[in-house]
Amino acid sequence: MRIDVVTIFPGYFDALELSLMGKARDRGFIDLRVHDLRDSAHDKHRTVDDTPTGGGAGMVMKPEPWSVALDGILGDAQADADPLIIFPSPAGEVFTQSMARELSSESHLIFGCGRYEGIDQRVFDEYSERGRVRLVSIGDYVLNGGEVASIAMIEAIGRLIPGVVGNPESLVEESHEDGLLEYPSYTKPAEWRGRRVPDVLLSGNHAAISAWRHEQSVERTRRVRPELLGD
Ligand code: ADE
Repeated sequence: MRIDVVTIFPGYFDALELSLMGKARDRGFIDLRVHDLRDSAHDKHRTVDDTPTGGGAGMVMKPEPWSVALDGILGDAQADADPLIIFPSPAGEVFTQSMARELSSESHLIFGCGRYEGIDQRVFDEYSERGRVRLVSIGDYVLNGGEVASIAMIEAIGRLIPGVVGNPESLVEESHEDGLLEYPSYTKPAEWRGRRVPDVLLSGNHAAISAWRHEQSVERTRRVRPELLGD
């Protein structure tokens, strides 16, 4: 999968050189290209923002640098890729595991990271008319910009690309994959500080272990996130 990111803080994305995402890049599953939006601003000060038209607090990102950056990426995309542009925004549709799964089969994603009070609306209008655009929120809280949200989405999507996670079975029993939260996990030793691993997990009875884990998932979901059960 090709992933382009447009940001005024490329350094945030250094985190994606680490761990599983770093390996996925080294092994060619993810081709991540990070672009500094200021390289697309052609005035002396490399200006990317201006005051809101109509008044108000803060600054709004100007359309011209965005069009230079996005046109460059779209012009360089594979002819058959039909890239999807994602603008992280607290005003967007909410990102979920099922959206991550859906997006993991895309061939080319472009993340446009807004800052300040956001990006001039005409950028969304222009690129929605020319191709596919989604505004996506990672939750009901406000970040300083789209960078951290993009990293979260890239990691959630990237680990679902076939081959990225070595043992695909480990993806099956995770929180949210079956609409439930994951059951609690234990490892050795069987007793630590007087706390014992539940006997059933030591029983070797796989049917009983599966049933116990499912019960624990349902109980945890009911306690912590009842709305996932429709309760
Ligand atoms: N930018 C600022 N807050 C955000 C959020 N919650 N989700 C996505 N992008 C954001």
